[in-house]
Amino acid sequence: MTITKDPAAPLVAVVGATGTQGGSVVLALTESERPYRIRAFTRNVSKPAAKALAEKGLEVVAVTLSVENRGAVFKAFEGADYAFLVTNWAEHGDPPRETVEGKLMIDAAKAAGVKGIVWSGLPSIDALSGSKYKNVGHFESKARVSDYGRASGVPFVDIQAGGQSLRGHLGRQRFNLPLPPTTRMPIIDAEQDYGLFVRKALELPVFPDKQTWATFGELIGFADQTKQLSEVTGKNVVFNQIPSAVFGEGVKSAGTPPHIALAIEEVFTSVGEFGYFSEGTVVSQEGLARQPQTWKQYVEAQDWSDVLV
Ligand SMILES: NC(=O)c1ccc[n+]([C@@H]2O[C@H](COP(=O)([O-])OP(=O)(O)OC[C@H]3O[C@@H](n4cnc5c(N)ncnc54)[C@H](OP(=O)(O)O)[C@@H]3O)[C@@H](O)[C@H]2O)c1
Repeated sequence: MTITKDPAAPLVAVVGATGTQGGSVVLALTESERPYRIRAFTRNVSKPAAKALAEKGLEVVAVTLSVENRGAVFKAFEGADYAFLVTNWAEHGDPPRETVEGKLMIDAAKAAGVKGIVWSGLPSIDALSGSKYKNVGHFESKARVSDYGRASGVPFVDIQAGGQSLRGHLGRQRFNLPLPPTTRMPIIDAEQDYGLFVRKALELPVFPDKQTWATFGELIGFADQTKQLSEVTGKNVVFNQIPSAVFGEGVKSAGTPPHIALAIEEVFTSVGEFGYFSEGTVVSQEGLARQPQTWKQYVEAQDWSDVLV
């Protein structure tokens, strides 16, 4: 544990430090032998997750990242050497807002004079699919932020989170998804392992610029995920490839707003047809401080009793 207040140590501003990805960045930097100062952003410094960060010696700063709050956002990044940026798309479900807030954070980090920005983006499904699938708002909005970051003049790396919530697509002992069972996806226990990739970027001799990195514990198809899930839990889990429209209807009927249901339908369908990574994405675990969990290790560590009866 080398979290310090020594001004000689680099100051890393971490957005979303009380959440999954930002929390994972904090974990990975805390595990490092190198000294870091960490400034953790939260909207609410009195929530237990924020207090726990303060107890670890982090500087915990209250800020709401929004365009209405531009001055405070710029102030929050002042003095930072590096910035980790992530958006809270799931809270508002509004892709244009995500783009505006992502750009705002890049502007604020740049104005603070940071030496490197890590952004948690996602690929453009529109570009990946040759414009066959154009409705994946929360991927397009992030891809626009990535374009903006790459053009910012500040060393910029887009470190994309692999799939984390596939558990949510498991119903009645089945994965019902609109892609072939052999389609491989980057799967990650983001809470534990996403930050390993961010730490690698910060600890390379030269901070990566204009790069896109995938994060994953394993690249694995649904047939293999299903098989391993069955073996570990002793339950008969099956994978069922279903038509895209049937899948989309199912997501919508579970109460998801129609534009988000369509986005989820198109993501899986496109991944099945065109794969997950845009050209040039660095898909590598080389140089990580420890090995991220495989799907099987993740399955073994979880309680599945709520979804597998
Ligand atoms: N789930 C997946 O499989 C997956 C895969 C790839 C990418 N993603 C993307 O990952 C992102 C979510 O990341 P996550 O899982 O780390 O989120 P999370 O666990 O929900 O955490 C969100 C964090 O953002 C902070 N936050 C939210 N709104 C804020 C605001 N207005 N100002 C300041 N801080 C704010 C929250 O802090 P406080 O509440 O303490 O303020 C919290 O720490 C989304 O954009 C999603 O699209 C998800």
